[in-house]
Amino acid sequence: MAQIPPGSIPARTHPSARARRALSLLTAGVLAAAGVVALAGNAQAVGALGDAAAAKGRYFGTAVAANHLGEAAYASTLNAQFDSVTPENEMKWDALESTRDSFSFAAADRIVGHAQSKGMKVRGHTLVWHSQLPGWVGGLGATDLRSAMNNHITQVMTHYKGEIHSWDVVNEAYQDGSSGARRSSPFQDKLGNGFIEEAFRTARTVDADAKLCYNDYNTDGRNAKSNAVYDMVKDFKQRGVPIDCVGFQSHFNSNSPVPSDFQANLQRFADLGVDVQITELDIEGSGSAQAANYTKVVNACLAVTRCTGITVWGVTDKYSWRSSGTPLLFDGDYNKKPAYDAVLAALGGSSGGGGDGGGTGACTATYTQTSTWNGGYNGQVTVKAGGSAITNWTVPVTVPSPQKVSAVWNGTPSTSGDVMTVRPTWNGSLAAGSSTTFGFTVTTNGGTSAPAVGACTAS
Ligand code: G3I
Repeated sequence: MAQIPPGSIPARTHPSARARRALSLLTAGVLAAAGVVALAGNAQAVGALGDAAAAKGRYFGTAVAANHLGEAAYASTLNAQFDSVTPENEMKWDALESTRDSFSFAAADRIVGHAQSKGMKVRGHTLVWHSQLPGWVGGLGATDLRSAMNNHITQVMTHYKGEIHSWDVVNEAYQDGSSGARRSSPFQDKLGNGFIEEAFRTARTVDADAKLCYNDYNTDGRNAKSNAVYDMVKDFKQRGVPIDCVGFQSHFNSNSPVPSDFQANLQRFADLGVDVQITELDIEGSGSAQAANYTKVVNACLAVTRCTGITVWGVTDKYSWRSSGTPLLFDGDYNKKPAYDAVLAALGGSSGGGGDGGGTGACTATYTQTSTWNGGYNGQVTVKAGGSAITNWTVPVTVPSPQKVSAVWNGTPSTSGDVMTVRPTWNGSLAAGSSTTFGFTVTTNGGTSAPAVGACTAS
């Protein structure tokens, strides 16, 4: 990867520095009498989506925009929940090579650097696509265009060699509708049907380890378009053209609902000998209906052995490409939606784990992991008053064994059995709608589950 702009990536703090910072925040009486609060776990509590998916042998990712990484709530939600990222726009041709043979990797590098600093994997999106293509590409003749396409693939994949788990080599090359025909594009129109094969062959010569995917939308069920892609993949596999995976974008709404044959369609592609990935999932709607649709998608992936992961197309409804349809798992204030709980449950986690404990209506408790290091992490719970002021609050936190809480700040813990109940220190009075936070340090002792944060109660 090229140079990362100074200051663009949070410096990785040495664990001992983290520990010192946590200890300096330690309030009197914070530790239990033994000096450590040991909490037996809720065995079902798997907090982050990424952890829950990993337990099922999958990744759970999100699209990320570099210009939001500096927003604390965006970054903390991303860091707490996902284990794979896809740059939403930063690896597209217009972002990387707006001028021929002059490459600008800074924004994409920021995302890759952030992901690496948090132990997340990266999907590459996308090398050859008719959209977000700089004007100069369309102006080239066939010979020049072939050379430009192969050069773009080579330069970009070389830059990120070893850092991308899967590349969308070609995106959206087929038309919608009943024709099953290729879409008109500079590549199709000037290089002909062979451009996809050529792109994949070039990609394989550059990075033999990255999975090479074909990615498209409206291919989620059986239809003319998915049949055409299926025929292409079958032909590639028969002739030894290198292709490893097919991405199903999965942008759903009432006009384009989750197809009833979604799982069967994924399975028929997998049966050709490729992995399948859900690459840009978002489902317009809200509440239980939206949650039920997300459940269908996750269950379909889990039922197909070669479905290796799911990526949602954004962290929060606030920044979705179709924000008004509220299609994502977190609302514009980063609150978990019913769809989040449904996805976590479908992945085998529990909705209390790692997240929003909900509450009585008087207050809510929302968990985020604020930092992590080898052997430990810091967690933070935001306590928010509902529509009325409160003068006191209580939040139960269960940290799964063998993890142990070693410090708590801005809150007073007491333990009963396996539950650490946290009450305010100085921060009990909250005006309607206002919030405070408390934090804690956990020594993992090899454990990986996130803490389960229960419901906030207020008085
Ligand atoms: O960054 C510029 C900003 O400087 C400028 O002021 C503004 C004015 O329009 O534009 C900003 O760029 C926008 C960019 O998103 C970043 O927000 C582009 O106009 C806008 O076209 C672009 O939209 C992206 C879209 O692809 C482009 O086709 C969406 O964010 C992105 O979510 C969307 O993603 C695609 C996948 O790549 C392929 N599958 C479909 C999916 C949804 O359309």
